Amino acid sequence: MDYSNKKNVEDINVQGKKVLLRCDFNVPFDAEGNITDTKRIDESMKTINYLINKNAKIILCSHLGRPKGKPNPALSLKPVAEYLSKVLGKEVKMANDVIGESAQNLSENLNLGEVCLLENLRFHSEEEGNNKEFAKKLAKLADIYINDAFGTCHRAHASTVGVTEYLPSVCGFLIKKEISAMGNALTNPRRPFISILGGAKVSDKIGIITNLINKVDTLIIGGGMAYTFMNALGYSVGTSICESDKLDLAKDIMAKAKEKGIKFLIPVDNKVGKEYSPDTEAKIVDADKIPDGWMGLDIGTKTANMFSEAIKGAGTVVWNGPMGVSEWERFADGTMSIAKAIAESGAVSIIGGGDSAAAVQKLGFADKMTHISTGGGASLKFLEDAPLPGLVALDDK
Ligand code: 3PG
Repeated sequence: MDYSNKKNVEDINVQGKKVLLRCDFNVPFDAEGNITDTKRIDESMKTINYLINKNAKIILCSHLGRPKGKPNPALSLKPVAEYLSKVLGKEVKMANDVIGESAQNLSENLNLGEVCLLENLRFHSEEEGNNKEFAKKLAKLADIYINDAFGTCHRAHASTVGVTEYLPSVCGFLIKKEISAMGNALTNPRRPFISILGGAKVSDKIGIITNLINKVDTLIIGGGMAYTFMNALGYSVGTSICESDKLDLAKDIMAKAKEKGIKFLIPVDNKVGKEYSPDTEAKIVDADKIPDGWMGLDIGTKTANMFSEAIKGAGTVVWNGPMGVSEWERFADGTMSIAKAIAESGAVSIIGGGDSAAAVQKLGFADKMTHISTGGGASLKFLEDAPLPGLVALDDK
């Protein structure tokens, strides 16, 4: 899908206008209610600051978590308003509702350059239902709609699609950056183009494999999904995660890679554990020697070296999905070595959001990457070349 013709915030006049800015403030919190990763909010600042400097009146909106259409104080966006107020050095007023009296009063009385934040959109079931009346009421708060919530563009919700029926609708700087970084890597990659795919299931990654197999020079498969490929080659995989109904698909993918002449790498050794637990007894074994009753929880050292060697010569790398259970320190080595190899490669590096983005950040390699997407599901859909409804709905130039 090509979104390069979509209008962005610089294509319209926002001066003095009430702007409804959809952000993805779906950020993680610790048990004390502190935001533990502010990346998504920080990445929205460019558009917010631009609108402030242009003297627009800014009405921010977002979802947080999955409150299932009911108000839930634990999923209030108040901590986000507090964080934004701190970063902007001025108060971001928080509405107590989304389309009610509080939201209407706040948006009606904004001064030039002022910012307010509506309460969690998903406190209304109409948001996820893409309800017309709800979208119309949301749109009524503003003169212009800007979508900068890349992470939510794969959802056809009232605040990402419905609202665009009623207002001029353009994207913000974050979406512009996401589509240009990932779009360029896919359409005009510096070669060799290598993709590394991990994560638990082949079934979650079929779309991305099907798209990338036509574009890359090397496809590297790690993480839980590798055991299905290993099993398809006839290896016994013990109690490792393995989708037995996807064995034929795995064989087809390997055959297609061969037919296309692309390099296809899967693990040659694995770190296996007795149980699915961070403290389980563990050892490294060759890929065709996983003992009965043991499960693969990471790639092994030989595999990490083999993958790193391939990455060394890359012109472009697209990475989506960890190599093992990277949130457990004893099974994070494989993911760590991939992150390190990409960081040192000098390649154009695109990190799909979600687990691989979190791993890169946690391991301290974030500033070495060309682009780390703020979208989990959305970046996966983008890399699959599947339409993202929130982008499709925006106005064309
Ligand atoms: C995300 O975290 O990927 C986005 O904010 C979308 O959230 P969702 O999966 O709950 O729709």
